[in-house]
Amino acid sequence: MSESSTMPADTDVEDSSKRDFIFLATGATAAAGVAAVGWPLVAQMGKAADTLAAGSIEIDLTKIAQGQQLKMLWRGKPVFVRHRTAAEIEKAAAADPADLKDPQTDEERLTPDTSGNLRPEFLVMVGVCTHFGCVPVGEAGEFDGWYCPCHASHYDTSGRIRKGPAPKNMAIPPYSFVTDSVIKVG
Ligand code: FES
Repeated sequence: MSESSTMPADTDVEDSSKRDFIFLATGATAAAGVAAVGWPLVAQMGKAADTLAAGSIEIDLTKIAQGQQLKMLWRGKPVFVRHRTAAEIEKAAAADPADLKDPQTDEERLTPDTSGNLRPEFLVMVGVCTHFGCVPVGEAGEFDGWYCPCHASHYDTSGRIRKGPAPKNMAIPPYSFVTDSVIKVG
């Protein structure tokens, strides 16, 4: 299915302090107040939600203020789009890949825009802990990135695993820039 939908203006950007999910489905948007605790909660949405979230999703980056994060359901998985602050970008760039469990630079986790430039202010990743699949909480943990409360994995501001049992960095989904301010995931 190759349908796509564009993020509506008002309801899709979350205040990350609320820890809620926004489920952005193909052709429709559904908001659900599900606490960001565990992947099973998402799985309980069932096949209908998975089916709705198939295809690709276009996201207007101008709707995500700096320091905010969009959380959406895409192909049955939570995807985070975070508009990082300068401090978050600086921290992500400062880490030496040689010190990481899953060595990867911050730049390697970014996709160039239509002009071929990296846009480090926007981090797009699959919001699933690589240990047993819980959904990490943002702006938390010892590295100020994401924290998985299930078994205490700490991710940095690039979504890379820094401490705890998770073996890999959070995954980067396939995405591209449609314009300088719109990306397409999927
Ligand atoms: S599922 Fe995240 S630490 Fe175990």
